[in-house]
Amino acid sequence: MSEIPWLLQEEKKSAAAAPPVVIVIFGASGDLTQRKLVPALHTLACEDLLPEQIAILGVARSPMTDEEFRQSLEAGVEAHGRMTPEHCQRWGEFSERFTYMAISYDDLGSYDQIAQRLAEYEQLFEGCNVLFYLATPPQLYAPIVKRLGESGLSTSSNDETWRRIVIEKPFGHDLASARALNKQLHQVFDENQVYRIDHYLGKETVQNLLVFRFANAIFEPVWNRRYVSKVLITVAESVGVGHRGGYYDQAGVVRDMIQNHALQLLTLTAMEPPVTFNATALRNEKVKVLQAVRPFSTEDEHLASVRAQYRSTDGNGPTYRMEKGVDPESQTATYAALRLHIDNWRWQSIPFFVRSGKYLKQKTTDIAVVFKRAPHLLFPHSTGELLPPNILGICIQPDEGIHLSFRMKVPGAGMNTRKVDMEFHYESDFGDGNLPDAYERLLLDALLGDASLFARGDEIELSWGIVDPVLDAWKSGSVPLSFYEPGTWGPMEADELAARAGATWTPGCAPH
Ligand code: BG6
Repeated sequence: MSEIPWLLQEEKKSAAAAPPVVIVIFGASGDLTQRKLVPALHTLACEDLLPEQIAILGVARSPMTDEEFRQSLEAGVEAHGRMTPEHCQRWGEFSERFTYMAISYDDLGSYDQIAQRLAEYEQLFEGCNVLFYLATPPQLYAPIVKRLGESGLSTSSNDETWRRIVIEKPFGHDLASARALNKQLHQVFDENQVYRIDHYLGKETVQNLLVFRFANAIFEPVWNRRYVSKVLITVAESVGVGHRGGYYDQAGVVRDMIQNHALQLLTLTAMEPPVTFNATALRNEKVKVLQAVRPFSTEDEHLASVRAQYRSTDGNGPTYRMEKGVDPESQTATYAALRLHIDNWRWQSIPFFVRSGKYLKQKTTDIAVVFKRAPHLLFPHSTGELLPPNILGICIQPDEGIHLSFRMKVPGAGMNTRKVDMEFHYESDFGDGNLPDAYERLLLDALLGDASLFARGDEIELSWGIVDPVLDAWKSGSVPLSFYEPGTWGPMEADELAARAGATWTPGCAPH
């Protein structure tokens, strides 16, 4: 397996020579640790991207020995790692860096025990940095942060070393709870110590949106209301809620996918070029987009949003209300489509459509930038209709790449035209297996102190401010709940929503 392409040799050396660090994972017996965090750490270790002196302390409620902990992690690395123990044969040595401690999240004594363990590492490593990672259920974030503050663990005893905290999603349940959590965090940590995860930002193709837009001069002149007619963002999943019915029924698709992942894609697509590539400049520009999103209006909410649930009509397929942990009369949406507007010079009057859902026809995350039609039509179109517009398709996943559709002359007599595609695929240009998992990138960035790909506090609050009115409108019943057949592209109301603005949802990452 080849190396991570995004780190230069120099950066690689500095990552390996970075000062000692201890990562304390809260929620270490859970799914996320096993499926994502440890496989990502193991791959980073295989690629020599972790400091020489690193220790990982897992803490959670269940009693477990270090050995049992390591065994459960090995199973996770084998099943989910981009590099498995077989690939790099370092698991044996690397696994010894992991230790486990059973704690009670609310008990100050447990934090004293953590402090004592950290003091031992400090002695061993002659000083070390500490990264706290909250991979617990969200209701534990605030109590853990509070205890970290009370026990003095949030601050380092000297100026040479740092303490940082990574917080998983969901960050809040609505604007009020996100604000409260930010407040609780800021009572203990400075904003520059806080790294809020949105794993979509760690995806290679999401970062490539920035490179595509800002490392190529040819797109910028047409990236605006004069040349673009609409933008459609799809975050579709072919799976259902699985064993997370209890959580999902409280969250629904807007909280689970739109407030975070889909709005991140929207901001990166719509933002102005930052003056420099650093966390502050980048996040300032994203914040400006969110500030410009037009508030959801109560007059046309039924025209600007669709909510739906999957339901199998013949009973052979899955039905959301029959999932484990889901209320049999649940009103929770597993599908949503929204029409948004960005009130600024660049995007005035251009609709941005966003849709996401479970049990759709296929897994695809893509952004279709639909350009305006040629202003004057010289050539007859084969079907006699208007010539279709050029579409730029940015395929985030799977089959990561970029498609651009345009018209060409059909060879032979006459001037008939046909749509063709110019395509770029990561796999064919950069090789299979070269795309790092999002968590590899995010963990490394948190260790290196680069918060560019993490959501800032104000960004999160603004995005809740956009979706809260949608959820309120839905709760009031003014937008009826629709149903869709699992395995389709969702309810016809979503097609109507797009059609009202002359748009059509694009078929995934396939050529348009
Ligand atoms: C998570 C959601 O944030 O993203 C899940 O909670 C969803 O419901 C997942 O399945 C999708 O992530 P990805 O990387 O598979 O697109």
